[in-house]
Amino acid sequence: MNSTTIPLDAATPYKDPALSVPERVQDLLARMTLAEKVGQMLQLDARGGVEELVLDKLAGSLLHASPQAMIDTRALVARTRLQIPLLMADDCIHGHSFWPGATIFPSQLGMASTWDPDLVERGARTAAVEIAATGLHWTFSPVLCISRDLRWGRVNETFGEDPHLIGELGTAMIRGYQGTGLTDPTAVLATAKHFAGYSETQGGRDASEADLSRRKLRSWFLPPFEKAVHAGCRTFMLGYQAIDGVPVTANRWLLNDVLKEEWGFTGTLVTDWDNVGRMVWEQKVFATDAEAATVAVDAGNDLVMSTPQFFTAAQEAVADGRLRETLIDNAVRRVLTLKFELGLFEDPRSPDPARQAAVVGCPEHTRLNTEMARRSLVLLRNDGTLPLNGGLTTGPDSRAATERQRTIAVVGPNADDPHAQLGDWAGNSGQVGWMPDGHPRHLITTVLDGVRRFAPATWTITHARGADIGSLAPDPEGDTLPDGQPRPKQFKPATIDEAMIQDAVRAARDADWTIAVVGDTIALTGERRSTATLELQGAQTALIERLIETGTPVIVVLIQSKPSVLPDSVLNAAALIEAFNPGMQGGQAIAELILGLIEPTGRLPITFTRHAGQLPVYYNQIRGQHGTRYADLTQEPLFAFGEGLSYTNVSYSNLRIDNPHLHAHETLNATLTLSNTGSRPATETIQAYISDTVTSVTWAEKELKAFTQSTIAPGESVDVRIAIPASDCTLVDANGHRVLEPGAFELLVGSSSRDRDLIRASFTING
Ligand code: NOJ
Repeated sequence: MNSTTIPLDAATPYKDPALSVPERVQDLLARMTLAEKVGQMLQLDARGGVEELVLDKLAGSLLHASPQAMIDTRALVARTRLQIPLLMADDCIHGHSFWPGATIFPSQLGMASTWDPDLVERGARTAAVEIAATGLHWTFSPVLCISRDLRWGRVNETFGEDPHLIGELGTAMIRGYQGTGLTDPTAVLATAKHFAGYSETQGGRDASEADLSRRKLRSWFLPPFEKAVHAGCRTFMLGYQAIDGVPVTANRWLLNDVLKEEWGFTGTLVTDWDNVGRMVWEQKVFATDAEAATVAVDAGNDLVMSTPQFFTAAQEAVADGRLRETLIDNAVRRVLTLKFELGLFEDPRSPDPARQAAVVGCPEHTRLNTEMARRSLVLLRNDGTLPLNGGLTTGPDSRAATERQRTIAVVGPNADDPHAQLGDWAGNSGQVGWMPDGHPRHLITTVLDGVRRFAPATWTITHARGADIGSLAPDPEGDTLPDGQPRPKQFKPATIDEAMIQDAVRAARDADWTIAVVGDTIALTGERRSTATLELQGAQTALIERLIETGTPVIVVLIQSKPSVLPDSVLNAAALIEAFNPGMQGGQAIAELILGLIEPTGRLPITFTRHAGQLPVYYNQIRGQHGTRYADLTQEPLFAFGEGLSYTNVSYSNLRIDNPHLHAHETLNATLTLSNTGSRPATETIQAYISDTVTSVTWAEKELKAFTQSTIAPGESVDVRIAIPASDCTLVDANGHRVLEPGAFELLVGSSSRDRDLIRASFTING
């Protein structure tokens, strides 16, 4: 106990669990000095050591703590005057990113490709169980940004481009993380981020000004966040960017009027990394940190991430009368409320080695991860080559066929690259230094591993890398950014290495099939790693062209963080499979899919463009433009939102609406018939879009409003029900109000957002 420590016993009201949370918060707040209160508002970076942060800066929360620091912090808190537990946070956005051996799922974009909220919820629950065992209380997930510019480096972290899909999957993830409630010891706080409009970049450039009106925000960008509030998400993280000249950190309208007052959010707001400092040194809207601190607190921020100077700046601003201490009190009240709600004063939820041994990366979690990986794969093209040999599990001749000697050449830079497979926010993706080699290699099944393991024992599997993607060179501007974060190294595309290509070509020539695994790397993914181009980098296109020339059927697998622009060689390959950073079990899932041990079920949550110049190419564009094409290129996307093939054929027919004339308070009920006319089972994602025939403002031609999944045996037909509340058939009018405009609508149901894949029925909504 140091000299300033006061004796606290269970009789101290804030320590008394019998009192209500508001009573405990009030008692504690009344005991705190201004410095202690401002300290509670700090969320600081633990990578440089934790002692000063806890004892001198009196931080209320830490992020990026190493496994050792997770332990050290608990003892440090005991040395503080009031012993207020820390909120420990990190970016566990597809599993516990930086815990060696934790279950790393497909990226959020990969999870979105499942279109399965229940599966996504189970994934988040599983992650939470692992996260909680390590002593973390809070994950900065899910990302609810809408990806519309594919050049942006963080597309992989999103659920894609559609507000409805994002809302459904995001709320599922929130439920998964927060479990049955914060008192559940396996619950972790979820974060709805980045509030709001951060993804609407200029030219894909990360954190650039978002050109958004309030009406546009309300139309597309805010709805997933509003759903997150209703799902009970306890924290929100701000975007980095400014909108219409106002940094989000200073945007009272968004943080206060909309989020807290209109939607009733009672949780805690955290800025993004050094947002408060950034308003001074980057956005240059304030001359001093004290001014920036004043505005940030006034706008409604509670926790200030990684702006250590906020500690003195906020105290200065209070001392000179600019910043009202009551506003600090309000913020601290919300931070303390979270800590009491989590029960941290009774049980700080410290790292639990026994629990970690039992749950982190356990077989049950691996099984779920395998299921997620399988469901995340999207088959985009198939000339009949897949499944290989007609599939290993079906057909009377399959056993005989598998006994025949066959050869598969597995080639390409991502065929055996565990890091590209996990993607960003995992192991050695650049954010932390304690996992230089990434997650343990033996926990990751690459495509090469998977094909070796799952192909019949009589088959020969050969391998050649064939091409490189690129390498990294130090940035001449230095290793560190002005905000203290590591500066990403510069990407240098690889040149063609003829000897490498020759190796792969030889392997392909001698094979019955070639599996070419190409895509991108961590160096082209993430914060500050937006790309100007979308083509496959380095020697990959040359490799594919040469592989195709061998005449051996080539199955192209894309292991990548976001849609790329694909050359004709890839588009004319025998088959094409999309795998958005499919996680630790991705290679197994891909091998199983190619061999026909599982069915392809994933659907695209995002549109593929043909050329970066076609952007934006998302499906729900606003009506009204001259013509439908560029002079030199179609406007048709390469692959559309919702698209994805099966190994069978499913036809949609007989769409009928039970109540084609409904009132605004009623629900549209419709039925359609799906028939599996092929010879393999299908798990079909049935997508229902609404088109409002005439609108008072220009509006999207169609918007996804519902989706459901149905498994149909070969030769069978099933009826599927669609229900859409009429109150969902809204738009945002010229005054920025979300309204339902009575009149004529169309229901469009089908297997993708493409018109040719949709069947239609008309209905009207009366006033
Ligand atoms: C900045 C990122 O924008 C955000 O998503 C992340 O949660 C924080 N850094 C913390 O790592």
